[in-house]
Amino acid sequence: MPKKIVDGIYYVGSRHWDRRLFDELIPLPDGTTYNAYVVKGSEKIVLIDTVDPSKTRELLENLNELHFDRIDYIISNHAEQDHSGSIPALLEKYPMAKVVTNAKCKGFLKDLLLIEDEKFIVINDGDTLSLGNKTLEFILAPWVHWPETMFTYLQEDKILFSCDFLGSHLATSKLFVSEEPEVYEAAKRYYAEIMMPFRSMIKNHLKKLENYDIKIVAPSHGPVYEKPEFIINAYRDWISDEVKNEVVLIYVSMHDSTKVIAEHLIKKIEEKGIVVKPFNLTVSDIGEIAMALVDAATVILASPTVLTGLHPYAANAAFIMNALRPKTKFVGFVGSYGWGSKVIDQTKQLLNNLKAEFLEPILIKGYPKEHDFEELDKFVEILYEKHNKLGVL
Ligand code: FEO
Repeated sequence: MPKKIVDGIYYVGSRHWDRRLFDELIPLPDGTTYNAYVVKGSEKIVLIDTVDPSKTRELLENLNELHFDRIDYIISNHAEQDHSGSIPALLEKYPMAKVVTNAKCKGFLKDLLLIEDEKFIVINDGDTLSLGNKTLEFILAPWVHWPETMFTYLQEDKILFSCDFLGSHLATSKLFVSEEPEVYEAAKRYYAEIMMPFRSMIKNHLKKLENYDIKIVAPSHGPVYEKPEFIINAYRDWISDEVKNEVVLIYVSMHDSTKVIAEHLIKKIEEKGIVVKPFNLTVSDIGEIAMALVDAATVILASPTVLTGLHPYAANAAFIMNALRPKTKFVGFVGSYGWGSKVIDQTKQLLNNLKAEFLEPILIKGYPKEHDFEELDKFVEILYEKHNKLGVL
């Protein structure tokens, strides 16, 4: 069912209540939505983005309920298929419609969806499109989170259609944000999972958006923001260089040695007044870990040695962390081995994207003994001093 945002502007997207995995990788504990919007001007009718191909029928039904005889333009802010995947079906239903997007996005849409060249109108940064009494302005915003991403700004109503940017994977009946803490959590998870690697680009985009009077933010996932400062301020915090007095301790254990190490560290770190967020990789949601990485001053990876290397779960976590590039200032490694190990070199190599200081690692032979616990205590002392010097205590 279409939902009115303001006069002439409707939500026509779809909720995917029971989707639990995105890209076969990212957990979706709250499902998601694929947001598409209609803007009806006095002369032209526009659809801003479409929906995931699995929900095309719902989008078409929503459009039918609005009783338009045509769609003039389909704006594509982002080529990923959860927003573009229904464009071919839309072009079939509305053969006169043109796909309006930037050159890079056009290339992706041709590659991914085999849309013909003549269907496109290519725009550049700052270009406008008149719908009669309404004007759309296009703002190129690469790397949130693909190179072709862009925003569309509706000048008269001061609405920013922000594609994935500022969005949240949260299926809800509510069109607008009503429970800010709930949306904050989902939006932070979303930021952590796909936006965090592009922190410096996002800084530039937020700066650019300061030139726009934004009354409503209509993202491509999750509810619409009637108070945009809520999510814009949250993003400002997440992308800032500031970190919190927190340690994310990511661990996996096979025969308890690493578990005992992790538990000792948790106790000692807490005693120092530092917040510790432990994640046992056998039971942890990778999205929760990503969220914790947004703010933490320190990350510690703890792993046993398997065939001279990291436990595969730990290697996977290090790989993901390296890809997400959190702003963490310190990285530590602790672990155990039986007869031989290359885990320290492997960890350093796997985390080579991080601009963090690598603390002196600790590798313990077998079950930790008294002198090992003393080493761990020293490790925590050093960590405490590092946080102190950073001014986060
Ligand atoms: Fe929601 Fe990058 O697609």
